[in-house]
Amino acid sequence: MELAINKEKLVSTKPILKWAGGKTQMLGNIMPKIPETYGRYIEPFVGGGALFFALTPYHAIISDSNPELINTYQEVANHVDLVIKYLHQYKNTKEDFYAVRALDWTKLPKANAAARMIYLNKTCFNGLYRVNKKGQFNVPYGKYKSPNYCDENSLYSASEILQRATIVCDDYRSVLKNYAKPGDFVFLDPPYLPISEYADFKRYTKEQFYEEDHTELAKEVGRLQELGCYVILTNSNHPFVHELYAPYKIEIVPTKRYISCNGNNRKGEDVIVTAFPKSKPLLRAVPKPLPEQVSKYPATRFMGSKSKLLEQIWSVASQFEFNTVVDLFSGSGIVGYMFKAQGKSVISNDYMAMSAAFTKAMVENNQMILPLEEAETLLVRRKESDHFVAETFKGLYYSDLENELIDTLRTNIAAIKEPYKHAIAMSALIRACIKNVLVEFLHIPGNGIMTGEKI
Ligand SMILES: C[S@@+](CC[C@H](N)C(=O)[O-])C[C@H]1O[C@@H](n2cnc3c(N)ncnc32)[C@H](O)[C@@H]1O
Repeated sequence: MELAINKEKLVSTKPILKWAGGKTQMLGNIMPKIPETYGRYIEPFVGGGALFFALTPYHAIISDSNPELINTYQEVANHVDLVIKYLHQYKNTKEDFYAVRALDWTKLPKANAAARMIYLNKTCFNGLYRVNKKGQFNVPYGKYKSPNYCDENSLYSASEILQRATIVCDDYRSVLKNYAKPGDFVFLDPPYLPISEYADFKRYTKEQFYEEDHTELAKEVGRLQELGCYVILTNSNHPFVHELYAPYKIEIVPTKRYISCNGNNRKGEDVIVTAFPKSKPLLRAVPKPLPEQVSKYPATRFMGSKSKLLEQIWSVASQFEFNTVVDLFSGSGIVGYMFKAQGKSVISNDYMAMSAAFTKAMVENNQMILPLEEAETLLVRRKESDHFVAETFKGLYYSDLENELIDTLRTNIAAIKEPYKHAIAMSALIRACIKNVLVEFLHIPGNGIMTGEKI
């Protein structure tokens, strides 16, 4: 997947048509959400193209199911001089307006049809495009004193931007099927789901956009995300919209709507849905060797130990960004130690007390030490032990003296409050038992067993 950065941007320009539901006012909310890099810009409900003209993307596919609109963009792209020439022929009078409105655009030369659309858009009431059930433009005359319907500068810059785009007249489904590829940025601004039955504008084309269409569009968003596209969608802040886009990030933004039955400005709320590709990490086939330090971890024979899989574990884990590892079943602790050797903090846990003590002392612990003098005090019997080892294991593993020593150490270690010191002392005792080196403690000078204060 190759991503292009839009470095060669043209200076952004204004849309050439005023469009119901145009996104000019929402640009401040939408722009920061757009990915830094993406493949192509695809806008299949382009309408007035507020975002497209503001972004001036280098590679763009813009489309709409409104053939008159698409003809206008194609003509402004390819024959802007001719469009301007036709525009100069139109006059802002009521008679001319209704005479031009009565013309069938499909019978006019294409550049003239484009000029007619721009003229009507700028001189009609409230400057919007709306058609009746037969698809005929039906907005009344606007009575504006001097509407600028032939803004040559804007038309020339729009022409330059449009020339770089692929301009298509089709249903959004076909457009997305034919063009969307992994890495593309898709901006979806469909006709909104009406908040109330009468107050919302619905007719951009002969066909309307019903609830079923919104359901289908939401499925398409899921497909695009799976494909690896960056999708941003806008709609009204309607409970059904929240239901449809529940799996994605939804932001509610205040908007001013200019379309209502009585023409008044109305405040409302829109939503911006973002559905960006889920990251799919690639597995590295050949794991890299681990740092030397990993091999220094004291070996403990442990059933199910992952000591032979450390390189593979690291090769997968290293593809994610993280600082802390939680090793919930630490066992011998070798996996946690491998992460520690790679500079990660490790929190360790095990249901088995021996494992938990080892890993807490040797893996999770980063700073605490148990000074020798403090360790030696643990050999001193200060209070009577519970004699658990001496009584339970008498004659089994160690001598009576050694069992007494273990009980004394257990009692003293239990009194250590600092958890890491506690874990270090416990680990030392366990290892001494495993390695059968307890007897060495008994021969430390001064540890005259059972004879004095010390054992
Ligand atoms: C909300 S407007 C888009 C406004 C635009 N983003 C702007 O800034 O001006 C919705 C557009 O979707 C178009 N449309 C409606 N149904 C469509 C469909 N099935 N496929 C493609 N376009 C459709 C309408 O013609 C209309 O231009």
